[in-house]
Amino acid sequence: MRHGGRTALVTGGARGIGLEMCRQLAAQGLRVLVGARGREAAEEACRAIGPAALPLALDVTSAKSVTEAVREATGLTGGIDVLVNNAGVSLDRELRPPYVDEDILRATLDTNLTGAWRMAEVVVPGMVEAGYGRVVNVTSSYGSLALMDSGRHPAYRISKASLNALTRMLAAELSGTGVLVNAADPGWTRSGMGGPSAPRGPAEGADTPVWLATLPEGDETTGRLFADRRPLPW
Ligand SMILES: NC(=O)c1ccc[n+]([C@@H]2O[C@H](COP(=O)([O-])OP(=O)(O)OC[C@H]3O[C@@H](n4cnc5c(N)ncnc54)[C@H](OP(=O)(O)O)[C@@H]3O)[C@@H](O)[C@H]2O)c1
Repeated sequence: MRHGGRTALVTGGARGIGLEMCRQLAAQGLRVLVGARGREAAEEACRAIGPAALPLALDVTSAKSVTEAVREATGLTGGIDVLVNNAGVSLDRELRPPYVDEDILRATLDTNLTGAWRMAEVVVPGMVEAGYGRVVNVTSSYGSLALMDSGRHPAYRISKASLNALTRMLAAELSGTGVLVNAADPGWTRSGMGGPSAPRGPAEGADTPVWLATLPEGDETTGRLFADRRPLPW
């Protein structure tokens, strides 16, 4: 229970890897705001997690929803110490560059990149004021430029490469404020997105993001990308 008194907000926290992150954060003594587009799904997840979990209706593609959810969350808890930008979609079909489905590209970026950015815009100022914060952007090895060796899943991969860029910029802007910003790849994990045949379970997928979300006071790890708690090339 090293993190008692801290509050974490996990976007897309009611199922998949996000739900497991909420469980692990609650087990470490944090109060956890479980974000889901449907309040009922968030409430059901909270019942499964226990009394440390509070439900939050939150759609990261809507600036209004983000603002209202963060206002509600701050009212309930006094402030957000940890933000896990976990909400994500994978919408690509078979098209590869140079061909593009602009609707799929826009929708993917709106959740995976702009969604995380919207959250940061509303949550991070409170962290800076408090002199403490942990922001974890849940990315993918598919977003690593170093591993960009085909045109498969272009919208998803470009969205995660862009989320990685946002991670670096935000970390640089927040240097010295006490707010650490890192990116975590959960690895191929069984979930709605990962499917049933993925090699790892949610507990393993959640481990690295939760580790970064709970970096101890005084830690200076920021602007980095990790998988299995080890650096991954950008
Ligand atoms: N599974 C893998 O193999 C894998 C590998 C690498 C990276 N990742 C990343 O891990 C993260 C979690 O994925 P997952 O595997 O757990 O996928 P999942 O089971 O499909 O869950 C996706 C989550 O994102 C939420 N979400 C989607 N659009 C949203 C929106 N507009 N506003 C708020 N929440 C939204 C969903 O919330 P609702 O309940 O509201 O639908 C759901 O909780 C994603 O960022 C994904 O890209 C996954």
